[in-house]
Amino acid sequence: MLDATRNTQPVPILGMTQNMSLLDAIRPTPHAFSMELDLEHDFADRAYRLLASLVMPRPIAFVTTLSLDGRLNAAPFSFFNLFGANPPILAFAPGNREDGTPKDTAINVRATREFVVNLVDEAIAEAMNQCAASLPYGENELARAGLTTHPSSLVKPPRIAESPVSMECHEWGTIQIGGNRLVIGLIKRLHVRDELFDADKKRIHSDKLHVIGRMASPDGYCRTRERFKMIHPA
Ligand SMILES: Cc1cc2nc3c(=O)[nH]c(=O)nc-3n(C[C@H](O)[C@H](O)[C@H](O)COP(=O)(O)O)c2cc1C
Repeated sequence: MLDATRNTQPVPILGMTQNMSLLDAIRPTPHAFSMELDLEHDFADRAYRLLASLVMPRPIAFVTTLSLDGRLNAAPFSFFNLFGANPPILAFAPGNREDGTPKDTAINVRATREFVVNLVDEAIAEAMNQCAASLPYGENELARAGLTTHPSSLVKPPRIAESPVSMECHEWGTIQIGGNRLVIGLIKRLHVRDELFDADKKRIHSDKLHVIGRMASPDGYCRTRERFKMIHPA
């Protein structure tokens, strides 16, 4: 929350003019009219496009897995987030392909119960995008995109060497809802690029982590360089 009560002096806030109190400047505008869209009927076939253009930016999980016979697979998923820290859990959602079959990532996680979530910064954005191509099962997307791997410590799938942060996960469980799958993972190990971690304070230099976000589908992305702070309410 912006702390409006503690400061009535003009401060550089977007849209604020002189003689305007800080409270006036930040007061949100109520909207009288809104469109109501029925996602069960009229807009059912537009649900993905509509929702993916609204719930944004979304972080991107660039997931590495191995098939049972050890073939490497990598694919990005923006239906992804962190859901808790005790224990540390995340989830991502590989939907079915148009022909109703599961994606390679989902097949591999089910079979091996292990995966690595690699975060995506600006430097590997293009390579990540190339890995969304649908290749024949078992074909390595990473090599084609010019990315390399480092071995993981605990799980068999390797992590992406060019990724700033990788999370080794065990599959806790997968919930299937229609053509969606919610893969829930327990995060066992975190690999953070040296320059991003202050070892003395055990803190992340998040100002140096330039992850990208997914915006409106199919090709919208954002940078995360423009940041601001708000005082947390007591
Ligand atoms: C940025 C980005 C985000 C994506 N997010 C998802 C997602 O959340 N769920 C999904 O099913 N597919 C998503 N895709 C598409 C998959 O990456 C794509 O279907 C890929 O071929 C799946 O690979 P796999 O069969 O090797 O698992 C996304 C693609 C991109 C480029």
